[in-house]
Amino acid sequence: MSLTNAPDPAVREAVVQRDLANVLHPIVQHRTLEATQLVVTYSEGSTIVDADGTEYLDGMAGLWCVNIGYGRAELAEVAADQMRQLSYFPHTAMNVPAAGLAEKINGLMGGDYHTYFVNSGSEANEAGFKIARQYMKHEYPGEYRFKTIGRYFAYHGTTLATLDAGGMGERKAKFEPFSGDFVHVAPPYCYRCPFGLSYPSCGLACVKNLESTIIGEGPETVAEVIVEPIMSGVGVAVPPDEYLPEVESICRKYGILLHVDEVINGFGRTGKMFAHQHYGVSPDIVAVAKGISSAYLPIAATLVKNSVFESFLGDPAENRQVTQVNTYGGHPVAAAVALRNIEIMEEERLVDRAGEIGAYLIDGLRGLTKHRSVGDVRGKGLLIGIELVKDRATKEQFDPAQITAVVEFCRDHGVIVGRAGGGRRAGTTIAVCPPLVITRAECDRIVETLDRALTALKLG
Ligand SMILES: Cc1ncc(COP(=O)(O)O)c(C=O)c1O
Repeated sequence: MSLTNAPDPAVREAVVQRDLANVLHPIVQHRTLEATQLVVTYSEGSTIVDADGTEYLDGMAGLWCVNIGYGRAELAEVAADQMRQLSYFPHTAMNVPAAGLAEKINGLMGGDYHTYFVNSGSEANEAGFKIARQYMKHEYPGEYRFKTIGRYFAYHGTTLATLDAGGMGERKAKFEPFSGDFVHVAPPYCYRCPFGLSYPSCGLACVKNLESTIIGEGPETVAEVIVEPIMSGVGVAVPPDEYLPEVESICRKYGILLHVDEVINGFGRTGKMFAHQHYGVSPDIVAVAKGISSAYLPIAATLVKNSVFESFLGDPAENRQVTQVNTYGGHPVAAAVALRNIEIMEEERLVDRAGEIGAYLIDGLRGLTKHRSVGDVRGKGLLIGIELVKDRATKEQFDPAQITAVVEFCRDHGVIVGRAGGGRRAGTTIAVCPPLVITRAECDRIVETLDRALTALKLG
């Protein structure tokens, strides 16, 4: 049986049977899959195609990750060439593509970073926690600077530590209790300010909350603060411009490392190569994944500022080297594909394009505020959230089933959008995060389809 673009219901049926009998899927209920039976067989540009030949405009770039779009045959050639040359060797030695990719990333970061390669965003953050802790052991011998401070409603990954660092109660509940090494503060979620305040008269109460938490915990117990510059999990919250610089200066004041999660934000998504570059900060640790290879192959990385990197240098007998390893880190094939992916982004000016076409799409989506249920449209570049509310004045939320109905209406009309928001189960914000190659006509289609969904479902 070959899976191609050719529509073939028999293929779909065979795959569905085989799948449901053998696969355990992530985060989706199998009963739902039994009903939808979506088998994806082909992809090109911003479009995916199912086994019946139905096309869907993918307004979520897969899982917020296919930045250069689908179907780049050139990357298949890069992978095949690299496999013929060197398919794998552990990264305790050096290889050509990983060295080239690290050099490329360092250039994009301004030239003051080393790159530690891993395989997923979760691992990139997890390695960041461990690097921060090990750094503190080196620099403050005899002290216990181990805590990570994160924010409620953030998402940093699926492993126990990254889940703990995140602040999504619904996702954590089934795995509790956690270690207590991860402490949480209020997020800069201005539409639903946790302090009931408004910007700018709030005086950035969320930053004050961070500082008082550090003081309360004891600065000498804190290793790092982790932030996603533009929070995606909370439903795409763009912070006030001063937020990240103020977080950075608090970190500096108390000798705490700043760990930035660029897993979704990075590689052009927000109109800069990395979202923290909008805010002029200089993080100590940066987690990248997803757009690094546009998901053509699994690869991710933890970028470490040279001032931190230097703490890991010394005579072998001093035992200062990075005390962790993963089999596939620095995989030459994934690195070669990621490097070419970034070159394509540069050649096609996709980062600027994300800024330009993102502004066009946000503008179009703002037109949806004619529906009373559209409480807020926010975003930067092609990272966008549309928060739906029952009542604009009180911001009362819809039942999750009503948000599901919007997502399903769009899918049934050939447009995939996502949902996120507030840490509540499944979320109350429609997320739009398409490939950076999306066209204006495709943006119009997303807006029109959401417009029709809100009208058809009588959501204002
Ligand atoms: C902000 C953020 N950090 C980390 C992760 C974890 O990445 P992965 O799923 O590759 O482990 C995600 C995944 O969606 C994410 O959105």
